[in-house]
Amino acid sequence: MFSGTRAETVAELVRTAPLLDFPPGSRVLDLCCGPGLFLVPLAARGYRVTGVDLSPAMLERAEAVCRAADAGPVDVTLVREDMLTYTAPDAYDVILNVFTSFGYFEDADDNFQVLRNAWQSLAPGGRLLVDVMGKEVLAGWIGRPQAVDLPDGSYVVQRDTVLDSWRRLRTDWTLVRGESARTASIRSFLYSAAELHDLFVAAGFVDVECFGDFDGGPYDQSSRRLIVRGVKK
Ligand SMILES: C[S@@+](CC[C@H](N)C(=O)[O-])C[C@H]1O[C@@H](n2cnc3c(N)ncnc32)[C@H](O)[C@@H]1O
Repeated sequence: MFSGTRAETVAELVRTAPLLDFPPGSRVLDLCCGPGLFLVPLAARGYRVTGVDLSPAMLERAEAVCRAADAGPVDVTLVREDMLTYTAPDAYDVILNVFTSFGYFEDADDNFQVLRNAWQSLAPGGRLLVDVMGKEVLAGWIGRPQAVDLPDGSYVVQRDTVLDSWRRLRTDWTLVRGESARTASIRSFLYSAAELHDLFVAAGFVDVECFGDFDGGPYDQSSRRLIVRGVKK
């Protein structure tokens, strides 16, 4: 979210990643699309793209990104909806939920409902991919605050705190710009590969697999992310 070079990294990822290779014309939903970094590259790959987010500010940024695309304005549908309630029965071939946009609700059942909603919104044969910071990955580096420099000279410090015996995480950010500092904080559920896998199965998905990156590599000791993919039969 904060890295100044993330847009280029995402564009390259979407252009080349085997896990993001779908048939041309696939209807792809970016659920919790945020500032829209995935939208333009997904459209450039030949997909029909919809972005859903709850935040009007994020949707504005996403719209601006689509309007200012290098190859000309990109036709993407943007919708303001809450993932807790959003369903569009059989409307999508692929639903992506990336960059740890899952597990935000205080009640575990609500997070499960998001998976059920995605299942309903997929056409038969459609796939859901959820990309989070897996509990196992986080355990490898938690405790070390991280700082990210932004292009305008400001920087963000991120600090994570484990809550409720590794069930949840609190992430605190401090944005330092010149003499001023602003803070933000979110709490979210943490998932191991086995936990998220089993939630997918309980939500009705089949052929559920875990990966450690969008190349389709295994989720193991060298992974930086946890990606779970399931299919609606
Ligand atoms: C970590 S950001 C990731 C954004 C984007 N996927 C990306 O890769 O940059 C999480 C996003 O989820 C959105 N969000 C949070 N709660 C939501 C909800 N209940 N329904 C829909 N979007 C939500 C936020 O507005 C934010 O844009």
